[in-house]
Amino acid sequence: QGLGTVVAVDGPAAAGKTTTCLALSKSFDLRYLESGRTYRIIAFEALQRRIPVDNATKVTCLCDELITASRSASLLTSDRYAPDNLRATRVNVAVSAVAKIAEVRQRVTSLIRLWAGAQPRCVIEGRDIGTTIFPAATVKFYLTAKPEVRAMRRVRQERSASYEHVLDDVIRRDEADMSRATSPLVPAEDAIRIDTTDLTVEQVLRLMTSACRDRGLEINR
Ligand code: CDP
Ligand code: CDP
Repeated sequence: QGLGTVVAVDGPAAAGKTTTCLALSKSFDLRYLESGRTYRIIAFEALQRRIPVDNATKVTCLCDELITASRSASLLTSDRYAPDNLRATRVNVAVSAVAKIAEVRQRVTSLIRLWAGAQPRCVIEGRDIGTTIFPAATVKFYLTAKPEVRAMRRVRQERSASYEHVLDDVIRRDEADMSRATSPLVPAEDAIRIDTTDLTVEQVLRLMTSACRDRGLEINR
């Protein structure tokens, strides 16, 4: 693989990936990448340009255009997009269709590998990091929790009005992510699975931190 340390964190929506990755990135001095953001950027741009998100050819073309315009890997880390835009309901719906397109996944996979190759140590969250992108990652986690609990977390986090709508979106997105043909959301065989339903962030972090130390990662002092 020729890579440095890679910590892979996969799992369904609102399982706690971003929160724990940010904390791990601080305590182990890892560069952090939120791979879902790239799929959201592509979905957002498709909606802005009125490109039908289920048209694989057109969306792939758009993806190539965005990669060229942002000079390759910086599409991953672009700060041109407001979080509110990327997390809008219409983007939540469109992103599932975009993430299903094999050619788009192929391109995003290349970008992530390119980015990671330039980091000595990193932590990456997504859906297929430990399975497809880095099967030889240093440590792999699969975070999950009951859909009702995840929906409630997202409602609190985003101060959304409707729990029912958020729950519907979470369940719909889980199903789309788990059933697609290319790189579906499944735990890697060697992933450390953590059901966070009844755990606090601190408890989850304790488990993750000790697993990272067991694999030789050193705490930042
Ligand atoms: O934050 P949340 O878990 O709700 O979603 P996200 O990580 O921003 O990902 C948004 C969508 O991008 C997911 O529902 C997947 O369809 C897609 N995604 C993916 O297919 N593969 C990844 N490695 C990351 C995200
Ligand atoms: O990145 P992902 O979509 O997997 O989830 P997140 O944005 O990190 O977490 C969603 C919310 O759940 C955040 O507000 C966390 O503080 C909260 N939470 C958690 O992540 N883990 C727990 N065990 C309990 C709450």
